[in-house]
Amino acid sequence: QDRSISIEEQITAYKHQKDVVILAHYYTDSSVQALADYVGDSYYLSKIAVEVPNKIIVFCGVGFMGESAKLLNSDKIVLMPDVEADCPMAHMASVEKIEAVRKANEDVAVVCYINSTAAIKAASDVCVTSANAVKVVRSLPNKTVYFIPDANLGRFVAAQVPEKRFLFNDGYCHVHTTITAEGVVRTKEKHPESLVLAHPECTPEVLAVADYIGSTSGIIEYATASDQSSFIICTEKGILYKLKQDNPKKRFHFVDGGQVCHNMKRITPQKVLKQLEQMDQAVELDKALSERAGHALDQMLLLAK
Ligand code: 13P
Ligand code: SF4
Repeated sequence: QDRSISIEEQITAYKHQKDVVILAHYYTDSSVQALADYVGDSYYLSKIAVEVPNKIIVFCGVGFMGESAKLLNSDKIVLMPDVEADCPMAHMASVEKIEAVRKANEDVAVVCYINSTAAIKAASDVCVTSANAVKVVRSLPNKTVYFIPDANLGRFVAAQVPEKRFLFNDGYCHVHTTITAEGVVRTKEKHPESLVLAHPECTPEVLAVADYIGSTSGIIEYATASDQSSFIICTEKGILYKLKQDNPKKRFHFVDGGQVCHNMKRITPQKVLKQLEQMDQAVELDKALSERAGHALDQMLLLAK
């Protein structure tokens, strides 16, 4: 490596040489978002992964995001800068429990939040993200929905789709559930002019005091379009980079100093560069499993249109 040129310049040089595109989630460090070609929420990133012409995708996010990009593009190479960046919630459902629920309920749709392993997706009927869950669930013909892994997103969706019967699982995000309604109220007392914008992975008590509930992209779009200039943001702190970029004059407050997803923060520009050099951390998935898991994701893209 030539240390006289910056990491960013070296990454750009590799991108031109190797037909690479870099995707990053809003929760990654701002230094990573700054070097990515596309930054977005899980839904946007899964659509972009299909649309980009590049043969190689470097995915700056946690494991399920890279797996999803690979499931949607079996012919592309999906490289992960840190294979240990994992989302604990992605493991909070079980294939055995899904089978048991299917046996006990005749007409059940197993709806799987994209924050899940490929094995869990393979046992499901359709995937959703926080940006499209209500639309996708509403469009299903089934009367009963088994929503996995996240109970908080599941309950949020259930409230919007009262015509269906919901069975919940007990998964949760340990980052979002540290935000308490009391914490939001305390923050609002300090900044009473603020609107509360929350991610649906927050607890029902936090969602009950929110003015807007949506995905990371939804929160950014809402804050950007709003006439208000002050907001309390109930999601991971990495979102601040884009919020500030698009709204330099608006103020954004977080509860208790802000929440951090340490798995997302494992991704660094150094690791992106190393992966571009070595290209040895490609997502590899079993073929039969990929077909079934890919089907659940394809169904999502179809129904969310
Ligand atoms: P979004 O799809 O809203 O970006 O959320 C992803 C996620 O992991 C939330 O914790
Ligand atoms: Fe997973 Fe929570 Fe991190 Fe999102 S914020 S990737 S749900 S641990």
